[in-house]
Amino acid sequence: MRHRLHTGAAYTGHGMPADTANLVRAFTAQHGCKPQFVAEAPGRVNLIGEYTDYNGGFVLPVAIDRTTAVAVAPREDDRLRVHSVDHDQRDDFSLDNARRHPMGGWRNYVRGVLWALLDSQLPLRGVDLSISGDVPQAAGLSSSAALELALAGAICAASGVQLPPREMALLCQRAEHMYAGVQCGIMDQFAAALAQEGCALFIDCQSLETEDVPLPSGIAIVVIDSKVPRALAGTPYNRRRDECAEAARALGLPSLRSAQQSEIESLPDNLRRRARHVVSENARVLASKAALRDGDGGALGRLFVESHNSLRDDFEASTPEIDLLVELANAAPGAIGARLTGGGFGGCTVNLVEAAEAQRFAEVVVSQYRGRTGLDGEAHICRTVNGMQVRDA
Ligand code: GLA
Repeated sequence: MRHRLHTGAAYTGHGMPADTANLVRAFTAQHGCKPQFVAEAPGRVNLIGEYTDYNGGFVLPVAIDRTTAVAVAPREDDRLRVHSVDHDQRDDFSLDNARRHPMGGWRNYVRGVLWALLDSQLPLRGVDLSISGDVPQAAGLSSSAALELALAGAICAASGVQLPPREMALLCQRAEHMYAGVQCGIMDQFAAALAQEGCALFIDCQSLETEDVPLPSGIAIVVIDSKVPRALAGTPYNRRRDECAEAARALGLPSLRSAQQSEIESLPDNLRRRARHVVSENARVLASKAALRDGDGGALGRLFVESHNSLRDDFEASTPEIDLLVELANAAPGAIGARLTGGGFGGCTVNLVEAAEAQRFAEVVVSQYRGRTGLDGEAHICRTVNGMQVRDA
């Protein structure tokens, strides 16, 4: 069969990009001393299971080789002196004053993570920090979770605090809620903390149990950025979350996790469609997990098509540009499946592609997309990596 994939041997990636030398140099130039540790955390692409995490459902992301790294050294006082290498900007505040920064942006992730760690009574030290990364921003690849986890890893390491990665991820989610104003689920932070190279991370977002699902060999993950930027705080993301909560309330349920297709029919039209997406998407995640294990590319392709249609029509989280990318991908060489991924309302598609065709697939889709829209779409052929790691600098 055309899309029968080989199971077993994992698609190779690396745990930690080799070149953090620039970051270490920038740290030394900025702070006048050498860093002690470098913490690095990946962005993620969600294979399937969109808008299910905050409904207590299932998701299946992978961590990708686009990462954010934070170099750190402890200080003798209680100050945080922070340097964003990529923005060439700085911040400086004390441990007892991690209020939201009026200018917003990257500074509030630092302040938010610090607040969440302190709020858990962790004994932190003042630190010097330098940050740099290559996770595309505002693209639905969780640049914010990568930043949060790398910061948490760096600050904890420099303070001598041992915190299990899943606890770190939960604190980073609180930081996102409180300081970035996005009522996100747990998928992004769990992926950035817990994912394993060569595997998708299955998360039951109700029990918070996770399982590593090996990816079949011969399959490439190609992310295509529509270059229609969005920051979740400025999209209907939070409104969708409220609509899901309203649907669950109307059904007398704690969340849509346990909703049945039959009972949804009684809901008003917009709530019915939101709930229908969530219930059907949960079933698709379970089916995709089985298809990955069986190396059944045909089934994965069908599930991706259904997921995208449901996101477009029922959840109304797509855009014309993303729909076009999916349409072009489905007709391109080597295509197995294509769909909107991440927070939606712009951003990226995730594409499963026969590995041997990945380069050609990316070129064909991007050039057709540019021709049709005039937008500078961009493809990333991704390798999978491990979640957050800390090493000596
Ligand atoms: C964003 C959020 C996640 C999840 C996805 C949609 O990435 O941060 O928690 O809700 O959107 O699946």
